Amino acid sequence: MQQQRYPFFAEETSADVVIARMGPEVDPRVREIMTSVIRHLHAFVKETRLTQEEWMTAIQFLTATGHKCTDWRQEFILLSDTLGVSMLVDTINSDHSGATENTVLGPFYVQNPPRYENGHNICLDGKGQPMVVRGRVLDTDGRAIVGAEVDAWQTNEDGFYDVQQKGVQPDMNLRGVFTTNANGEYWFRSAKPRWYPIPGDGPAGDMLTAMGRGTIRAAHVHFIVRAKGYEDVVTHVFPPDCPYLDIDAVFGVKQSLIGDFRRSDDEAEAERLGFKTPFWKLDWDFALARKR
Ligand code: BEZ
Ligand code: FE
Repeated sequence: MQQQRYPFFAEETSADVVIARMGPEVDPRVREIMTSVIRHLHAFVKETRLTQEEWMTAIQFLTATGHKCTDWRQEFILLSDTLGVSMLVDTINSDHSGATENTVLGPFYVQNPPRYENGHNICLDGKGQPMVVRGRVLDTDGRAIVGAEVDAWQTNEDGFYDVQQKGVQPDMNLRGVFTTNANGEYWFRSAKPRWYPIPGDGPAGDMLTAMGRGTIRAAHVHFIVRAKGYEDVVTHVFPPDCPYLDIDAVFGVKQSLIGDFRRSDDEAEAERLGFKTPFWKLDWDFALARKR
């Protein structure tokens, strides 16, 4: 018999046996990641004493996840989001001390959203309760940043993004980019955000049902804030009266991102804003960290 180069497979040594097969020229980071993936995967199978049927169920689940993906639907990202992995990757990679906290980007951002003058109303379908958002973009020492971009997007009152309802909602409904003025200020008009379900008609939804979990995302407005020389902030602002803050389907809520949404019945201010009463006011400043 030819001399044995590698050990044969056994339960006790299974991970070591598989890891030992990696070639000598493997990129160090690939080696580190694959070693860890193999160790965790083998430990999981042993810990749960996984059956053949259960492993086949997992393979069919991942196959169905792939089949569900289209140009418009990324089911693997939904899995990552609902398992808390997207938030974890974001959390361990964000160290913008003193900056506004990050949260998930989500799948409904569109490239090249419309740019507007401050004050524009991005609510093109007129649905929902009107809301005015005002604030400043600051550095972490509290100094105004001039010319920063505040890129906002949200669902409409029916709980859908424009891209989920092509031909139903106006294109680019509830999206817009605003630029801070000489005092670092931005403002725009919109509608108060409401909670909505993430797409639940695929494997991620089946997984949530199997785990006794819901699909609801707490109400939020998404923001990306950018300025030259500063780290981008990818975040949301949440209204405090949303009943889903503590069971957000993708774990996106952070205490520091809950805003002070105030209801107003001020007729004169409503008229100046082109609103009917009641309307909502959100004052929200962003803080950006300098690029390192
Ligand atoms: C969103 O907020 O748009 C979102 C985030 C994660 C999964 C689905 C939707
Ligand atoms: Fe969202």
